[in-house]
Amino acid sequence: MDKLIITGGEKLSGELRISGAKNSALPILAATLLSKIPVSIGNIPHLHDITTTMELLGRMGVQLVVDEKMNVEVDASTIKNFEAPYELVRTMRASILVLGPLVAHYGTAHVSFPGGCAIGTRPVDLHLDGLIKMGAEIKIEGGYIHAKADRLKGARLVLEKITVTGTENLMMAATLAEGTTIIENAAKEPEVSDLAYFLNKMGAKISGIGTDILEIEGVDQLGTENLHFDILPDRIETGTYLVAAAMTGGQITVKNTRPNTLDAVLEKLKEAGAEITTGEDWIKLDMKDKKPHSVSVRTAPYPAFPTDMQAQFTAMNSIADGVSVITETVFENRFMHVQEMQRMGADITLESNNAICRGVNNLTAAPVMATDLRASASLVLAGLVAKGDTLVDRIYHIDRGYDHIEEKLAQLGATIRRVPN
Ligand code: UD1
Repeated sequence: MDKLIITGGEKLSGELRISGAKNSALPILAATLLSKIPVSIGNIPHLHDITTTMELLGRMGVQLVVDEKMNVEVDASTIKNFEAPYELVRTMRASILVLGPLVAHYGTAHVSFPGGCAIGTRPVDLHLDGLIKMGAEIKIEGGYIHAKADRLKGARLVLEKITVTGTENLMMAATLAEGTTIIENAAKEPEVSDLAYFLNKMGAKISGIGTDILEIEGVDQLGTENLHFDILPDRIETGTYLVAAAMTGGQITVKNTRPNTLDAVLEKLKEAGAEITTGEDWIKLDMKDKKPHSVSVRTAPYPAFPTDMQAQFTAMNSIADGVSVITETVFENRFMHVQEMQRMGADITLESNNAICRGVNNLTAAPVMATDLRASASLVLAGLVAKGDTLVDRIYHIDRGYDHIEEKLAQLGATIRRVPN
């Protein structure tokens, strides 16, 4: 298993290009199952979760051709089976996103039940309830979700809790249902909207995009000849590099991004003392050589502060001036990075879903590891400001969601290298 070694102390500066959003690419690749007409998808990030999704589709018999620019040509007309096996779902919970498209288009799906997860129990009950309301028959047997339906029927779905992949699964299923589906309390994340725009380009009839009430008028079939769609830039990757620069007192410009998907994060960076300038597709952050001030954050569904940026802000607060409180409201048990940061000298106390961070002058390098994607990234950020060589283990988590992180950080002047085990 590869490791990263980071020698702390370099101020980050320079320019960086942001990759396509993982959380948009995954549902859009799943959505290709809704059509038999080939589609081309661009700005696909180079990530392990993308490889897993392609393997998942490939095993079903879908044909995928990737070119050197990471454009992916998908032809789902050759599909032969409708199963998402345990060994793939186990490594990537987002595999559940094939459930809605398969049952809507082919009337059958066998998807391994995603187990518990390091960042909380993360059930899929709302995905299943919604499909049942649309007429699917669901059986759980042998660790698998078996879904069956003749043709799904439009329904009014009021989600008890805001769920991103749940909204996506139900929206995809509804595109081919008979009649109209209303999803209330829908997730408004930009990636949900990106998926909706893609589906509409395939011929779906979705309105209310970007709001918490989605209306989907079912159509008989989906697919458009010569369709090409570029994935939205990754707002979490963007935010991670901005925090990295802020922690080191640096100055960077990120390009090929969407500032308007990062309002809550940019507000908090300004509060931390960063000067932020934005254009249509770029963000410049300048800390003017200063240390960040502490900023308290509370995670919640979009457009509030994203849970996927919580660990990175915890890292920043660990060396910021002052005391802050980080409140996690989306997932239970999403503070596993705290223990590792404490080993690097951070002064953080956990009280239920709050982390109280008292900024210290310096972190010191230590061997660390983390058990989820964003937590691992936050340890790399901590390593950027720690004295000595920080060794981050189990970085396969980082490779699931960050496109060439060591190359991008090195490009900004960080001393970081990947060592094979
Ligand atoms: C997605 C993102 C993930 C992000 C999360 C929250 C993808 C591939 N992943 O994950 O990066 O951290 O949104 O922004 O897009 N819940 C239920 N029942 C359900 C579904 C969810 O109780 O059926 C709960 C979860 O346990 C959690 C909350 O709802 O407490 C939000 O989870 P959800 O939005 O579904 O997260 P994911 O879609 O898995």
